[in-house]
Amino acid sequence: MSVCIEGKTILITGASSGIGEATARACVSAGMRCVMTARREDKLRSLADELGDCCSFVVGDVTEAGFNEYLLKQSGDLYAVFANAGHGLDQNIADYNSVQFQELFQLNVFAAVELASLAANEMMKKKQGHILFCASCLSKFATPSHGAYCASKSALEAFATSTRMELKHKNIFVSTVHPIGTRTEFFDASATRSGKGVSTFESQTPSWLMQPPEKVANAIVRCLRRPKPEIWTNTTMRLISTVFTASPRLASTIITRFS
Ligand SMILES: NC(=O)c1ccc[n+]([C@@H]2O[C@H](COP(=O)([O-])OP(=O)(O)OC[C@H]3O[C@@H](n4cnc5c(N)ncnc54)[C@H](OP(=O)(O)O)[C@@H]3O)[C@@H](O)[C@H]2O)c1
Repeated sequence: MSVCIEGKTILITGASSGIGEATARACVSAGMRCVMTARREDKLRSLADELGDCCSFVVGDVTEAGFNEYLLKQSGDLYAVFANAGHGLDQNIADYNSVQFQELFQLNVFAAVELASLAANEMMKKKQGHILFCASCLSKFATPSHGAYCASKSALEAFATSTRMELKHKNIFVSTVHPIGTRTEFFDASATRSGKGVSTFESQTPSWLMQPPEKVANAIVRCLRRPKPEIWTNTTMRLISTVFTASPRLASTIITRFS
């Protein structure tokens, strides 16, 4: 099935940097209109200036009560929503911090689900649409010290899978995005939030496990044109995640050896 996306509008959360910013650029290049949101107005403004008339932005915090309703009202006639805003947390079970855990779920899960639900109601009236959730390869398997983050992405993936079946016959597609390590502000922001200063993730990770955000963005545009349930940009990681799911003991042995 192929969809003509030219002239259609996509709302992207977390568009002030990284995957969201790259996706806004890729969608506009593909002929879409784009509504971008995040908290940093300066970043959104300069991206909107660069992308021109087909772009607008709404500044705000998606975890704030009432913001998602406001955002949708400001966005007008939407074809697609990419619930992408998210953050990480490096924390062992011994250091469990319930406030940080809840903040992570508030952003990575509850805000994304609320936005998707509001958007789905509008899409059902128009009998078309596409909802994309930014999960992770870590929605399929977990790594040490990232329990909260992996749990949030697994929860989001499960919710998306259920929603996909609900909306299957309403001409509304639901896709999850499963990036591997992507060169964005994500790792430094997670390290700062976790009280660890600057992240060493990128320097310690083999280059084949790292990618630029544009790779994810281009895969998202392809999926908007030809909808599919899951977006992967690394076939090896996709296969590894399948093996890890089939064999938890093997997964645990390999992951702990390389962590
Ligand atoms: N980088 C990776 O390796 C990787 C891998 C797998 C999955 N992911 C997922 O990809 C998504 C995007 O992350 P990224 O790598 O592009 O990181 P990023 O560069 O840090 O982008 C995160 C975006 O989320 C926005 N954001 C954070 N909190 C927000 C809030 N409360 N309200 C509104 N916007 C908020 C940030 O903007 P403001 O600060 O301006 O609000 C920023 O635009 C996340 O869901 C992440 O979990 C990333």
